[in-house]
Amino acid sequence: MKEEISTILKHYPQGKRDALIPVLQGIQEQLGFIPEEAIAPVADYIGIPTSKVYGVATFYDQFRFTRCGRIHVRICQGTACHVMGASSVLKALEKELRIAPGEVSKDGRYSLEIAGCIGACSLAPVIEVNGTFYPLVKKDDIKEILQKEKNKLNV
Ligand code: FES
Repeated sequence: MKEEISTILKHYPQGKRDALIPVLQGIQEQLGFIPEEAIAPVADYIGIPTSKVYGVATFYDQFRFTRCGRIHVRICQGTACHVMGASSVLKALEKELRIAPGEVSKDGRYSLEIAGCIGACSLAPVIEVNGTFYPLVKKDDIKEILQKEKNKLNV
């Protein structure tokens, strides 16, 4: 893990505070999350205290500190999505993935996360799979959406 982190860091300018967010994004893109052991090397590389790295990483929703599945599904449970039937979509996801929100499947293929409003209320209910947004989702769409995402990754 240490080597992976230093390889990722080499892609960014050393000692530049502006690089902090891109560095964290790069680590998450490569490893799927921000591991605890990345914080100190990032702080050293950028030249800021570890508390600052923690502060920024925990401030933004986009950063995760736990490992995700290769296919990471976020389902919005904000008011608009809830009213438009997000609960039945969530049930379909739980059934299809065989995991509950906050869990990663044993084979590491899938993870499921509940999100607050993700800013697309007029298209509710909305899910996001590995960064792709799916609007106006119905429970019957879940199998097809997951198959599409599996095909993208060949899993
Ligand atoms: S409530 Fe789901 S996108 Fe706003």
